[in-house]
Parts: sequence; C-alpha cells; structure tokens
Amino acid sequence: MSTPLLTVSHLEKSYQKTHILHDISFDLDAGEVLTLLGPSGSGKSTLLRCLNGLEAFQAGTLTFAGEVITQKAKQWQQLRQQIGMVFQSYDLFPNRTVLENILLGPLKVQKRSRETVLPEVEKLLQQVGMRDYRDAYPRQLSGGQKQRIAIVRALALKPRLMLFDEVTASLDPEMVRDVLTIIRQLADTHQMTMLVVTHEMDFAQQISDQVLFLADGRIQEQTPGPQFFKRPQTSRAQNFLASMDF
Ligand SMILES: Nc1ncnc2c1ncn2[C@@H]1O[C@H](COP(=O)(O)OP(=O)(O)OP(=O)(O)O)[C@@H](O)[C@H]1O
Ligand SMILES: [Mg+2]
Repeated sequence: MSTPLLTVSHLEKSYQKTHILHDISFDLDAGEVLTLLGPSGSGKSTLLRCLNGLEAFQAGTLTFAGEVITQKAKQWQQLRQQIGMVFQSYDLFPNRTVLENILLGPLKVQKRSRETVLPEVEKLLQQVGMRDYRDAYPRQLSGGQKQRIAIVRALALKPRLMLFDEVTASLDPEMVRDVLTIIRQLADTHQMTMLVVTHEMDFAQQISDQVLFLADGRIQEQTPGPQFFKRPQTSRAQNFLASMDF
C-alpha cells in the first residue's frame, strides 16, 4: 500500500458561529480523480479552499505527501505551490498578456528561470489549443479560452494536485466541452491527481475514480465512481442524482 497523496482527517470548519464542515475525513491517492458532489451550500467550495490554505479551519489535520500540515504560514506557502486551483472565475490580470499571466507564478514565486519555464509553458499552451494566443490580452479571449489559460497558469507551477471548482459554470454550453475535455486529458494522459467539483453529471461519471457526496457539511458517502452513478448508497445521494436528471 502506498501512502495517499492527501489525507484529510476530522476537519472542522466554522465561519464565526456557523459550523460549515463537520468531521471531514478522506484519502486521495496519487493519480486518482475524486469528484465532490452535493447540493448548493453543502460546503464543497469551502472544503477545497481549506485544502489549499485559502481558508483556515478550526480542527483536524491535512497530510500532504506524508507531511502533516499545520496552520503555520510557511508550510502553507510551500503547499500552495504544489496544489493548483482553478475557479469558476478565471481572475487573469487584465493588463498582462496570456504569457505574462502564466509566467508570473513560476518566475516570481518559484524563482525559476525563464529559459526553463518558457518551453514548458509553450507545450502546455499547445496542449490546450492556445499556442497562438500567448501575446493576447484576456479581454480578447472568450470565456472558454480564458478558462483554458487559467488551467495552464495553474499547471505551469507543476502542482502535484489540482483542485477544480465548477470551472465550467460560467461558460456558454459550446465552450463547456472544450474545457472538460482538457480536464479529462489531464486525468487520462497525465494521471494528474484531482479533486473536482462539478454539476456536469455526465462528465463526473466519466472522470470519477471516487465520488465524495456531501450534504449539510458532512460526507454522506464515499463511493467508487462507477458504483455511485449506478446506485448510490444513501437516499440523499439518490435524490440528488434524480434532481440532476441523472
Ligand atoms: N465567507 C463566508 N462567510 C460565511 N459563510 C460562508 C462563507 N462562505 C461560505 N459560507 C457558507 O458556507 C456554506 C457552504 O458554502 P459553499 O460555498 O462551500 O457551498 P458549495 O457546496 O460550494 O455550494 P455551491 O454548489 O452553491 O457552490 C453555505 O451555507 C455558505 O453560506
Ligand atoms: Mg461552490
């Protein structure tokens, strides 16, 4: 048995007096895709944000690549570089070109040299079909194109884990497929370890090794992907899938 890449153990999260996440525990093995499903407000985004240090949590531990992560700022800095995150809104700097947006992290934060990073970034741009746009500004791109750049920007830091939070939620339907295809290739071709929040159930079915079903801030079940979509264990999850017309 190899050590999981990420272990979350008894994590508790509150905002002021409101308890949001209760006793969250799960493992994620390297190369695995874990999909986080659940109704709106169940705590999916909050959980992802706790995992890469965007939110503090009150109790529980994270273990990443065998190292226990406490709330110390220094550790989080290192961890954040190993965990890439892409959100619904892409947050590219409007006054910087595509290439400048992507190079910022590897050059300024990771202090890597332009000569080593540039070929890697060009390869990534090629992979997502955006090579011709390296000198474009974000305003010249469609939503789907911006989202592909946001994915490249995260990958350029060479993360060991990628977190995706409803990355297609604000895209026109025809662009959704392009972006989902890229995420699927990351899993299939590059065996990227991923935690994915999505409301696209067909996509979730195709990509999930495991499904974590969350409701009311608690894990209701963790089930292998194929089994979950055939027949989830809990009635909460059965109702959820039915409500998604699945
Ligand atoms: N900064 C915050 N301050 C206080 N409460 C918050 C904050 N962010 C989220 N919450 C609350 O935490 C709960 C979980 O929110 P979260 O955004 O994690 O849900 P979600 O599962 O991602 O929902 P959705 O599917 O709509 O994105 C909600 O009740 C929300 O109102
Ligand atoms: Mg959310």
